Amino acid sequence: MVARLNGTRPRSEKYSGAVPALRRGRYGEFAMRFETWSKAGNKSIATLDVDCLVLGVFEDGELSEEAGTVDSACDGRLRKLLERGDFPGKAAETLLLADLPGISATRVLLTGLGPKKDFSRKTWRKSWAAAVAALLKTGIASAALALERPDAKELDDYYFGRAAAEIAAGSLYRINDLKSGKKPKPARLERVLAGPVGKSAATAVNRGLEHGAAIAAACGVQRDLANLPGNVCTPTFLAEETRALAKRHRSLRVRVLDEPAIRREKMGCLLAVSQGSAQPPRLIVIEHTPAGKAGQAHPVVLVGKGVTFDTGGISLKDPGAMDEMKFDMSGAAAVIAALTLAAALDLPLRVVGLVAAVENMPDGNAVKPGDIATSASGQTVEILNTDAEGRLILCDALHYARRFKPAAVVDIATLTGACVVALGHHHSGAMGNDEALVTELVAAGVRADDRAWPLPVTEEYAEQLKSNFADFANIGGRDGGAITAAAFLGKFTQGLKWAHLDVAGTAYQGGAQKGSTGRPTPLLADFLIRRAGL
Ligand code: BES
Ligand code: MN
Ligand code: ZN
Repeated sequence: MVARLNGTRPRSEKYSGAVPALRRGRYGEFAMRFETWSKAGNKSIATLDVDCLVLGVFEDGELSEEAGTVDSACDGRLRKLLERGDFPGKAAETLLLADLPGISATRVLLTGLGPKKDFSRKTWRKSWAAAVAALLKTGIASAALALERPDAKELDDYYFGRAAAEIAAGSLYRINDLKSGKKPKPARLERVLAGPVGKSAATAVNRGLEHGAAIAAACGVQRDLANLPGNVCTPTFLAEETRALAKRHRSLRVRVLDEPAIRREKMGCLLAVSQGSAQPPRLIVIEHTPAGKAGQAHPVVLVGKGVTFDTGGISLKDPGAMDEMKFDMSGAAAVIAALTLAAALDLPLRVVGLVAAVENMPDGNAVKPGDIATSASGQTVEILNTDAEGRLILCDALHYARRFKPAAVVDIATLTGACVVALGHHHSGAMGNDEALVTELVAAGVRADDRAWPLPVTEEYAEQLKSNFADFANIGGRDGGAITAAAFLGKFTQGLKWAHLDVAGTAYQGGAQKGSTGRPTPLLADFLIRRAGL
């Protein structure tokens, strides 16, 4: 017989089953370079040395400025094509033309921009994404982005460069799948020139291109980690992969608390969630410390929910779409991704990532409804529903954040189905105890085209968490479920400047396009870049 002490039992430190051709420590990498092109000197778009020019056409048949230049260079062939009605210019439609006379590029990709009066940053993004998707189907290796640009208050030079690179590099993303057939050939497109960029704008556009590429890489990190199946991506695995990723960046240090260390921190709520699983929990600490003085300041602390699989525990979930609960570590993946971004951009800002990684399973040792756990803060929690586990691991991780004397704490979590009911899949929920911080995150989401919407966490909501047996219960009923979850976290963040992003509806997609979206990494990136003063 195997000896069992105090209900503990042997735990597997290994992940089991199929292991994909892992890109250990190389998540999110892609091969694409970005430059600008300009019309300086006698150069015009007609003489650009690239395989393909990406030109815009409005739905009213009007050529964008650069398309007009090309049209003149090739004896009005573009205009003729439009007059024949061969390309209506609907937003995001494309048509590839080859071997036009009078220009250096061997191909032209006409891209619809929709009606000119409706032209916006949104249509520009959509059209550029469609153009890149079309380019990736061809043998084109280099392309010049020459679409009409929305005016500067919609998209300034920096965000133009950033979005151009983020969209192009983001389009290269492919799921690191476990299909047994031959892997499709990687795309040829490896060089993208954004323009036209005048002398005075070059610095801002180039900075945007650099940041956009870094954001795409970070989104790739989040997506690669989140797309992995639960039998591969366990808490132990997540900790190992974080170490491997951090090895590639000099500014990053990783510390991993194993189960005994977590026990020493008295994280009773986190351990209650984990106790039904054969997989031991991990608390992963990732620190980005920039060189020089800025390293001394109070850090921004990001806290990620890393439930590598959420069955619901004894309060078992319905089987429909339960597989999607492998994405319940999306917050953790976003935190890891954000730290790699801080390192890649050498942000002059201290950033600490805390990842609470557990698996939520039902078994003979699992926590039961009515059980009471003591959090690291000393407060007691009656666990009325074992499926409200995210808040239980976060409350202990948020308490741990205090020791860093943070300037701000932001947690990221696929926390509630109620948030999906409230906001659908377009906005993440933004909550917290510091209005300025919540507003800052919402603004970052607008600039990053990765939006969040504020929900009110006023005192009344906390009253729904009353318990007869402990300091509070871990659920507050159906009504206002996204907010009562935040109110629970608020009990553990008093005195901190704290915000909470509920990304249950935004971090991944179900259905035919099932997979991680990489959100809210663009929002977090904008937040950190601004905080760093870049
Ligand atoms: N991980 C889920 C939240 C979730 C639901 C994410 C749907 C994405 C899509 C979370 O752990 C959970 O189960 N929350 C419960 C809370 C309830 C028991 C108070 C929920 O939302 O049903
Ligand atoms: Mn749950
Ligand atoms: Zn969950």
